Amino acid sequence: MRLTAEDPAVTAEQFVRSNRDSEYVRLLDNTEARLWSVKKVKEWLEKGFEKETPATFTFSIRILESDRLIGFVGLGGVQWSQGDAWMGIGLGDRQDWGKGYGTDALRVLLRYIFTELNLHRVSLGVFEYNPRALRSYEKAGFRMEGRQRKLYEREGRRWDGIVMGILREEWEQLA
Ligand SMILES: CC(C)(COP(=O)(O)OP(=O)(O)OC[C@H]1O[C@@H](n2cnc3c(N)ncnc32)[C@H](O)[C@@H]1OP(=O)(O)O)[C@@H](O)C(=O)NCCC(=O)NCCS
Repeated sequence: MRLTAEDPAVTAEQFVRSNRDSEYVRLLDNTEARLWSVKKVKEWLEKGFEKETPATFTFSIRILESDRLIGFVGLGGVQWSQGDAWMGIGLGDRQDWGKGYGTDALRVLLRYIFTELNLHRVSLGVFEYNPRALRSYEKAGFRMEGRQRKLYEREGRRWDGIVMGILREEWEQLA
């Protein structure tokens, strides 16, 4: 896979398609599932581009062989003075889960974070009920840093929120 930049119209179409799957939304976000229009999302993305700050970096993920757009990976809340940021990732189609694309994209993003942005660490949040993401993050080198107990309500029960992170020196040891 490779990381790309796309026109807002292309990203909006992929976003809307992905968000039609409530399981995807459940794994990615703690907000309620909603249906969006391509027009609305495109406008929202364009507004974001206009005022995009250097604290946000978003990439699309495309498969090398077919050039199919399969998801996004991104970095937000960069605190340059602290060398810290938060990241997120989502592959929108279930058929692409479990094939190594996500972990691959994480590895590319980490290389960008540590060799281009020169940050010192990166954090992420993941739900207790998302073992695939937990495993993928672990494979990319993230470690568990904390647990917020019973933070989320899903399927009539409470679930923990998990915070993971990776330090530059840990990433250097992975190679
Ligand atoms: C999370 C995500 C990015 C991971 O990418 P991916 O390409 O599916 O992950 P990979 O194939 O690289 O690795 C998945 C690992 O989880 C394991 N796994 C899958 N289901 C699992 C389960 N129920 N329990 C434990 N491990 C599981 C796989 O076996 C694999 O580990 P292995 O290589 O040691 O066998 C992707 O699945 C995705 O976008 N999911 C939907 C949205 C989402 O969850 N985003 C993250 C929010 S924090």
